[in-house]
Parts: sequence; structure tokens; C-alpha cells
Amino acid sequence: MIVLGIESSCDDTGAAVVTDSKEILGEALQSQEEHKQYGGVVPEIAARAHLEHVDEIVNSCMQRAHISLNEVDAIAASCGPGLIGGVVVGAMTAKALALALNKPFVAVNHLEGHALCARIAHSIEFPYLLLLVSGGHCQILVVKNVGEYQRLGTTIDDAAGEAFDKVAKMLGLGYPGGPMIEKLAATGDENRFTLPRPLIGSGDCNLSFSGLKTAVRKIIETYTTDGDIDHAILPKQDVADICACFQMTATDCLVRKLERAIKYFKQNYPEGQHVVVSGGVASNTYLRNHLRELAENHGLEFAAPPIRFCTDNGVMVAWAGLERYRAGYTSPLDFKPRPRWPLDENAPKAAGAGGVKA
Ligand code: KG4
Ligand code: ZN
Repeated sequence: MIVLGIESSCDDTGAAVVTDSKEILGEALQSQEEHKQYGGVVPEIAARAHLEHVDEIVNSCMQRAHISLNEVDAIAASCGPGLIGGVVVGAMTAKALALALNKPFVAVNHLEGHALCARIAHSIEFPYLLLLVSGGHCQILVVKNVGEYQRLGTTIDDAAGEAFDKVAKMLGLGYPGGPMIEKLAATGDENRFTLPRPLIGSGDCNLSFSGLKTAVRKIIETYTTDGDIDHAILPKQDVADICACFQMTATDCLVRKLERAIKYFKQNYPEGQHVVVSGGVASNTYLRNHLRELAENHGLEFAAPPIRFCTDNGVMVAWAGLERYRAGYTSPLDFKPRPRWPLDENAPKAAGAGGVKA
């Protein structure tokens, strides 16, 4: 079985062809540079850039795969959640190909792409516990099967990646912020500033990063005379120390909430063996190391996609499309792209508002 997948839900235009024997036959990816000067993704610019590049990305993916489009069994695209202008570009391209080639179309939830991506690189059986940390999402879920999710917790404000990006912006480090913060944090003192851990005692698996971000802003304000952080002058070492403290505190919040979730998971899904982290923030090695230690302390195996598949890419969409197609799901050609699309929308609501009391 061979599936072509297209990703275009944020600022990466990606395409990949994967097989059910977990081979990546070909892939192509273009990360948009246009947003760097704005310190965040500009939806209109993103949509136009996807439109401009999607055909060449699909073409170069097919060339690298050394197969023709006729040899593909199904065509998948990220159909949400995400920036709707971009989502429409990928969805329309996949639908047009499906129609022209008379092949099935598979609408993929972008989050399911992140959720299933680790299974292409590792043998991970359902159910598994997933920490999904990206620029737009921060959730703890039980992945029960393809299309079957139980959400145990979510952020009530910023996503983890969003917090990395906003802190980086305040420090003038550019976009995306995660990689730069990780790099600078390596030379910083993570104990220099004490930062808050919002919601840590909330008794559920929900997260919050907004207060943490504000606390960083307050520290940066002490380096100004007028309170405007754009005028702050920080010595290099202080920037590194702030990055280290922020990364350590954000990681600690994730680790502590995931620990609650692990206890719930072990009780309710005793057959489960894996803790998986995915999404752009999962490229962070400091976070990965702490999550590995946590999982192993609780007798579970830790797994994550290879770092280059943590941020948005075509492989995760092609793979999730393949898993869905193999499980018998296809989508009608009039499937409407969805700016919002919770992974667990068909699941019975878990106990407690917004999450499980783990
Ligand atoms: O999954 P992704 O590519 O896009 C969304 O679906 O949102 O994630 C992008 C996010 C950005 O916020 C970026 O700053 C963050 O992932 N990120 C990182 C690292 N690399 C990317 N965050 C922390 N450490 C990193 N090394
Ligand atoms: Zn993503």
C-alpha cells in the first residue's frame, strides 16, 4: 500500500510518499522563511506561499519516490486544524489529484499526523500515552487506536511552542523561538531565576503557560529604564540564563502533568507500554531527555519521532493517511477543511471539566 500525503496547515509545505512497510519512498519540504521578520506566522502570507509552492513540492516528492502518481493507492492531506487559507491549498490539491486519478481521498487531522508519526519509526502498539506539544497545541492524550483518542488534559491558554516563540520574541531571538532558546539554554544557569509553574496544583492534567511567559516579561522589564522591553539591554549571559530557566520550568510543568497522566494511564490501560512525545517542541532534546527519564521511572518505554519529523512535514500526513486508509477510512471529495478539529471530538467526555482527575 502506497499513500501520498500533503501538509500545508501552518508555515511548512510538505509532501511525502510512504508505504505500509514503513518505507519513505520520497519526500519534499519547504519551510517558509517569509514570516521571520514578523516574529510569527502571518496567515495570508502563508496561504499564498503554499499556493505558490505546493505543485513543485508534490512534483519533487514524486520524482524522489521514483514512482508515478498512478501507483499511489490513496491521497491524503492535512485538512485542519490550522490556518484555513493554507489548509484549503493542501486539501484542494489532494482532492484534485484524487479526482483526476480516480483514487480515494483521505482527510487527515493534522494532530493525528503528529499523534501517529512515531509509529513509522518505532514499533509502538495501541494504546499509548501521548504528549502532543506544538506551536498551536499542547495536549495529553491516550491514543487508543487510529481515530480513537481520549484527551486527559490540555493547555488553558498558550501552547508550549507558542510560549517558546513568545519568550524568544521578547528576547529578540527571532522566529521560531524553540530552537534558539534550546541552543542558548545550553550555556545558561537554569537556577538563576525562579519562575512560576501555573496550574501545577490543579489536581488535573491541564496546563497553562501564560503566567510563565508574563514572569519572563517582568524579568526583562528590569533591564529597561522605561518598562518597554523593546528597549531592554541584556548581557548575553543573562539571555542564556533566562532561556535556561524558562526551558527548565516549562519542561518541569510538562513532566509533572505527564506524571499524573501516566498514573491514570497505567491504572486504566494496563496493557499500554509507551509514552510518546510529538509535535514541534518534541524536537527539544532537553525535554526529550526528561520525558525519557520520567517514562522509564514508571516502567514505560519512551518514544518520539526522529527530530526532523517532530515539526510539520509531509511524512506525518502521508503516514496518518496510510493508517486511516488501512483502517478503512476515506473521505468524500466535498469534505470541508476545518480550522478547528479536536482529536477527541467523538469520544465520550472524560470525568471532570476539561480533563481527567488523575
Ligand atoms: O508542530 P509544529 O512544526 O507546528 C505546529 O503544528 O504548531 O511546531 C512548531 C513549534 C514552534 O512553536 C517552535 O518554536 C517549536 O515547535 N519548536 C521547538 C523546538 N523546535 C521547534 N520548541 C522547543 N525546542 C525546540 N528545539
Ligand atoms: Zn503541527
